[in-house]
Amino acid sequence: MPEMFNPAGSAAEYIRDLFILVIAICFVIFVAVGGALVYFIVRFRDHNGSDNTEPPQIYGSKPIEVAWTLAPALTVFVLALVVVRSVFDLRGQEPTANDQRVRVVGHQWWWEFEYPEHGVITANEMVIPASDEELDRKVFLQLESADVIHSFWMPKLAGKTDLVPGRTNHMWIEANMVSPYFGRCAEYCGTQHANMLLRVDAVSQKEFDAWIAAQKEPAREVASAKPGKERFMALACANCHTIRGTRANGKFGPDLTHLMSRKTIAAGMVENNRANLVRWVEDPDEIKLGCRMPDMRLSEADVKQIVDYLALLIRLQLWKAENTLI
Ligand code: CUA
Repeated sequence: MPEMFNPAGSAAEYIRDLFILVIAICFVIFVAVGGALVYFIVRFRDHNGSDNTEPPQIYGSKPIEVAWTLAPALTVFVLALVVVRSVFDLRGQEPTANDQRVRVVGHQWWWEFEYPEHGVITANEMVIPASDEELDRKVFLQLESADVIHSFWMPKLAGKTDLVPGRTNHMWIEANMVSPYFGRCAEYCGTQHANMLLRVDAVSQKEFDAWIAAQKEPAREVASAKPGKERFMALACANCHTIRGTRANGKFGPDLTHLMSRKTIAAGMVENNRANLVRWVEDPDEIKLGCRMPDMRLSEADVKQIVDYLALLIRLQLWKAENTLI
């Protein structure tokens, strides 16, 4: 069963119901037209090829012409009405202080998630508070693009919304706690469009607060990783990536402050573990052909030191023990 038929939030439910309504109307039309077609073929067929008389010739019929003009016009009108109404319904209200805001920025080919109230930035894996009837708390997404048009799509949570350069779009999502949910970019945006995956974890308010608190911390400093940190800063890595608490403050690539709290690298392509980090730093194209992370042509020793440093970038207690992949 496609995921959109199994919604986990109110927006996705709304879209599913709309989809079923539209399909039902189309199905009735299909049965009526197809049925009439089959009926006429059978009813008026020439049994043995002997009937060569000309059938009666009919020229125009006002009632029938009016009927076949009005019926489709009315159908299209009804469909347009329900669809337009849903566009406005799904747009929703302005967020209140109660709602969680997340700024989503589409990049070729990864997602940036910023929690503006908390000063937290992460990539490709969004953590949100699950819907809670009592709190009536929803998640308000502010969608932007850093380069070309992308589209944010979580089939179980809501419909697609484009991320357009120079414009800010909005959408609401809501999720119950049976996460994770998986989504993807739904607008062709270049070579690796198909591998621009994202993940949403909906957790309890308590877990969410703990996650935010851990994410807010600066990067971990570990004495044994100092050589790797120095190489990271000396080579061009620091120009593209931010690691809070260090002088690395590049904005072009994903924020790596708590890199190891994420389950995958390269926007969902491979598991985030030491072996894959080595592959990624050594030659990103091997994992994600055409990606924007350059091959730095590092020596084996540099790769090892940098990965030694990266593999420690996690605050402990990042909300779930299984999340720790070191
Ligand atoms: Cu981003 Cu397709």
